[in-house]
Amino acid sequence: MINQDTINKIMDTARIEEVVGDFVSLKKRGTSLIGNCPFHNEKTPSFNVSVTKGIYKCFGCGKGGDAVHFIMDHEKYSYPEALKFLANKYNIEVEETVQSPQNIELQNARESLYIVSEYAANFFANELWTGEDGRAIGLSYFKERGFREDIVKKFQLGYSPDVWDALINGAVAAGHKEEYLEKTGLAIRNDKGKLYDRFRGRVMFPIHNFTGRIIGFGGRTLKTDKNVPKYVNSPESDIYHKSNVLYGLFHAKKAIRETDNCYLVEGYADVLSVHQAGVENVVASSGTSLTTEQIRMIGRFTENVTILYDGDAAGIKASLRGLDMILEEGLNVKVVSFPDGHDPDSYMHHVGAGDFKKYIENNRKDFILYKANILLKEAGSDPIKRAGIIRDIVESIAKIPDDIKASVFIRECSNLLQVEERVLLSELNKMRAAKFKKASAGNNTSFAQQSQYQAHPQDGPPDNLFENPDPFSQPESDASPDNDQLQEQEIVRLLLAFGHELVNWDKIDNMYIGSFIMQNLSDVVFEDGLCKRIIETYRDEIENGHLPVANQFIKGQDREIANLAITLSTSPYSLSENWYNKHKIYVRDETVNLKATILGGIFHLKKRKVDRMLLQILSEIKTEIDPVNQEILMGRYSFIKGVEKEISKFLGSVILK
Ligand code: GTP
Ligand code: MN
Repeated sequence: MINQDTINKIMDTARIEEVVGDFVSLKKRGTSLIGNCPFHNEKTPSFNVSVTKGIYKCFGCGKGGDAVHFIMDHEKYSYPEALKFLANKYNIEVEETVQSPQNIELQNARESLYIVSEYAANFFANELWTGEDGRAIGLSYFKERGFREDIVKKFQLGYSPDVWDALINGAVAAGHKEEYLEKTGLAIRNDKGKLYDRFRGRVMFPIHNFTGRIIGFGGRTLKTDKNVPKYVNSPESDIYHKSNVLYGLFHAKKAIRETDNCYLVEGYADVLSVHQAGVENVVASSGTSLTTEQIRMIGRFTENVTILYDGDAAGIKASLRGLDMILEEGLNVKVVSFPDGHDPDSYMHHVGAGDFKKYIENNRKDFILYKANILLKEAGSDPIKRAGIIRDIVESIAKIPDDIKASVFIRECSNLLQVEERVLLSELNKMRAAKFKKASAGNNTSFAQQSQYQAHPQDGPPDNLFENPDPFSQPESDASPDNDQLQEQEIVRLLLAFGHELVNWDKIDNMYIGSFIMQNLSDVVFEDGLCKRIIETYRDEIENGHLPVANQFIKGQDREIANLAITLSTSPYSLSENWYNKHKIYVRDETVNLKATILGGIFHLKKRKVDRMLLQILSEIKTEIDPVNQEILMGRYSFIKGVEKEISKFLGSVILK
């Protein structure tokens, strides 16, 4: 672990404008710097850098953080990797602290798994290039299939000899423990306790994680015997989790970012061939069906996925549904299919690299339109089948989170399917409403009402089919009666913005606003998960005699907390503004009457909590049949009502002063 002093030194030295400036061209605007966001596509800059706060925030895609977060997001580094990157940039020496024994053990065990995997890859590669069988069987196989030597080397392909213990013997002689061979699945122990190699007589494909370390293997048999599985793969281990690994990503990530597109294929061989054709932005889910984690991983590099299909129609139809998952993650999906039963690998070797590249660049079709076309062809003129298609297509469109994109597809599909746009829209609205109901069972506001979109042919595509919550225009708080998230966030915002200011109000002398707020809210239970975590940290630290600073949340390692802290410190008094508006009090700057701002925040939250208690008691009274119990409840109600009145009165007087 990097020690805290070093972390502090890095944080103090790294200038946000310099760190971001290495990747984004920034212009001065007002007190901050602005540029085009590197995390999403945009033409008008909405990426802000605050030099004084040391943070960035994109008002388009919402990404934000400090210098370390920027490097993590931009370079896809882990927290320590990003710290080391910055240390290097600023010539800061990194000191690592000694870890706890358990930690070291855990770390060492994982490290040993990486090391033995690395050893195995070298062993297999060595067999391939220098072993007698390796060359005669393995290397000649790759050559026959048309793989160039540089590709075989780049992907560290290898050969596992066709004996029971070649790797084990080599590894143990080189000082590796059997335990780790077993834990990575490179070796298997039989019932009699004897250890044997998992991979025998196979060409080997090492699987890299995205920092390039080897975490597992796929081994392809060279036998044509149908009883032998074509591929044997490493099992899951502490370093290999199949659902979040994409074969080829390490070698593809740079090209994916540069081309802003990721080609997705099915097999190891396809990755190699496409790469060999000079198209390096290619990955495979290899074997397992595509998972959400894998899609999100792609989403960290690009919004555009192009699926390269083999031509077989049955296969295509089966996978169409799976692709909706990609739409759901907000990515754009295109597909390329190959003629005559070719897969990407066979087609590349069939037509050659140059033509292959041209083919996939010129034959991308948008997935939804492609799907509509395939289904249409299949349905022929059967009207019932055609009706089914509409549902099927709209279902895919309903998965697209971006309303503008969805509306464009509605229009295009209306042409293609020869169905009026409003018919598709009403289907879409129904599906979205149903989906929303499911997602927010119990929420009072009717999404169905909000989301109905009426087609007005004269106004072109709608630019906002569905309400998207905009973090900078919070709804009037009273419109969402069943949670207090906004009020809780307002408290967090006040703590972050003013916690270190001293107050001298009436009988209160020289007290920090942070302590003042916490004292006044000691009886309030926070319900929003993130707010609660921040408040608890705040409370613990105050109890330990230390007043937290905003930066420890903004610049902390916990991204969820950091994001909330940044959003709250970059969106000035969104809630209190509403509060003031509602009470017809206009203040240009909340610091003008800081007392009203702080007390307003505290008591507004209290009032919400009390109001909800009252509602709760009322509903209990309604369902209670026992008159004695009813009486008790009424008593409780009138007591709490009294508290509520006090709070309201107090709020009124504070705000009006
Ligand atoms: P070639 O047949 O050499 O072209 O291999 P390929 O990589 O193109 O494989 P294929 O298209 O047959 O299969 C796609 C992917 O599915 C492979 O890369 C493997 O990850 C996986 N796969 C294929 N066959 C098997 C198998 O028998 N067992 C397991 N576990 N995975 C398999
Ligand atoms: Mn293949």
